[in-house]
Amino acid sequence: MMQQGRRNFQRINSLISGTRFAGIHRHIPQSIWLPLFICYTNAASRTSFRFLFLAVSLFIGLCVSVRLLEFTVSPTAQNFESSIVTIHDKIEIPLDCSTGNHTQTCPNNYYPKNFTLHDEQQSGLPHMCPDFFRWIHEDLRPWSATGITEESVERAKGVADFRFVVLNGTAYIEHYKKSVDTRDVFTIWGLLQLLRRYPGKVPDLDIMFECFDFPRVPKKDYGQLNSAVVPSPLFGYCGDDDSFDIVFPDWSFWGWAEINIKPWDLLLKDLEEGNKRMEWIDREPYAYWKGNPNVAQHRKDLLTCNVSDTNDWNARLYIQDWVQESKQGFKGSKLADQCTHRFKIYIEGSAWSVSEKYILACDSVTLLVTPHYYDFFTRGLMPGLHYWPVRMDDKCRSIKFAAEWGNNHEQQAKAMGKAASSFIQEDMKMDHVYDYMFHLLTAYSKLMKYKPTVPPNAVELCSETMACTSEGFSKQFMEESTVKGPADASPCIMQPPYDPQTLNSILDTKLNSIKQVENWEKQYFEQMNQE
Ligand SMILES: *[C@@H]1O[C@H](CO)[C@@H](O)[C@H](O)[C@H]1NC(C)=O
Ligand SMILES: *[C@@H]1O[C@H](CO)[C@@H](O)[C@H](O)[C@H]1NC(C)=O
Ligand SMILES: *[C@@H]1O[C@H](CO)[C@@H](O)[C@H](O)[C@H]1NC(C)=O
Ligand SMILES: *[C@@H]1O[C@H](CO)[C@@H](O)[C@H](O)[C@H]1NC(C)=O
Repeated sequence: MMQQGRRNFQRINSLISGTRFAGIHRHIPQSIWLPLFICYTNAASRTSFRFLFLAVSLFIGLCVSVRLLEFTVSPTAQNFESSIVTIHDKIEIPLDCSTGNHTQTCPNNYYPKNFTLHDEQQSGLPHMCPDFFRWIHEDLRPWSATGITEESVERAKGVADFRFVVLNGTAYIEHYKKSVDTRDVFTIWGLLQLLRRYPGKVPDLDIMFECFDFPRVPKKDYGQLNSAVVPSPLFGYCGDDDSFDIVFPDWSFWGWAEINIKPWDLLLKDLEEGNKRMEWIDREPYAYWKGNPNVAQHRKDLLTCNVSDTNDWNARLYIQDWVQESKQGFKGSKLADQCTHRFKIYIEGSAWSVSEKYILACDSVTLLVTPHYYDFFTRGLMPGLHYWPVRMDDKCRSIKFAAEWGNNHEQQAKAMGKAASSFIQEDMKMDHVYDYMFHLLTAYSKLMKYKPTVPPNAVELCSETMACTSEGFSKQFMEESTVKGPADASPCIMQPPYDPQTLNSILDTKLNSIKQVENWEKQYFEQMNQE
């Protein structure tokens, strides 16, 4: 039976054979998605956090007392392409923790006021931003006619975790409520690093941020877009087609202290190394998933696809127990050690999940279970190019077929894995994460109809006030992710909004690729059943 099924499959394969996907655009979007891995439960992470507090107090030596440097600009380094060579010319502004860990204040004259970028005197190659940046235009479109009013921002107070204001390059924070874990802490940290990276360039701002999983500004609350009430512009980590939330890179790019996930640029290097350890062809020919099933019914459903005595859906599924992991020093949860299967499943958690980028980075074929949410980069992914779509409503069979296809089309499957990890390593490198933040915040500030002021209960914030007073993994990750000094090149260049036809055709292409796979899947099982 299985033998025959395989023969049939080969027949179908000849129809499937490659080429089909070849013409798809490189990065393109659609408005959906995000994923998993989240897995923490509140109680669990709190326990592990306490544990971490005891366990680590590294890197204190980094907080040396260093006087601010003079901000003269090197006249050399004419080409930012060669910035590695000229690294010694870069301005570095070390963290200044000299005033001790509890009375920390922000240094005066913190950011260079008078400094020039190397590339401003030259007309080097324009460095275009990745395509997914164009979704910034779409995300801000709800305010394009009305602008962002102070009232609409204030209205988000009831929902937001914090308000972040930039005035003349100085950051202020007004905290409303504690977020889950250190999500707020590392998000704010990331914003401060942006100020270090582009001193004098981040415009005056007033944003509300919410750090939980779900979008919080339903479109249905606002009726027609041209109605009198301007939607609240609320920043968060994910959105969906029914909400106005503005998506922003999640905290984990600067580290996830509770579960020992390093800052992104370090992790990217680990993942790259991890990929080298095992060629695609040598990996287990199954679909791997490891995560916490308890955050969503669809994850519990997924577990029924695990291999058993009676069924083999080509899935090898494992439960991630973070409490246990933290007790064992996270030895079993190293992401770079999890690139051992030809296929990796991504499935959303309670909403989007930060795990998507780790899964895509593996050189394995990402089997992406139809997502409902999107985050800031996922709309740039194309089915058939960066991932293989898997049905939410028929997961086991869909996974089985995906792995059959991939194991019978090794070159194409391998290329799909590679396309995804290249997307992650290049389009999603930290430089681009900062540039995304920069362009989004700049575009947002242009829409603001008022001049922000320091909110009544806000405090001034800088990297020192955060890093010098923190402990454990938090401190370590902050030190590791500190932006050492101003970027010596300008941000990448934003492309204009998609025109409506282009946008529609991108969305159509995406939908058609998914439908195509669903058809193949159907044929495969029909043929199998006829045997
Ligand atoms: C903070 O400083 C005090 C006194 O200098 C020291 O005893 C304490 O260990 C420090 N705490 C941390 C977390 O560095
Ligand atoms: C920047 O600094 C240079 C040298 O210190 C000075 O000549 C120049 O006038 C300064 N420019 C501004 C805009 O302050
Ligand atoms: C910001 O800079 C402007 C112009 O230099 C100045 O008038 C204003 O008072 C400054 N605002 C704050 C909050 O420092
Ligand atoms: C899935 O099957 C594998 C292999 O039998 C097993 O090791 C693993 O524990 C199973 N996973 C779950 C969640 O039961």
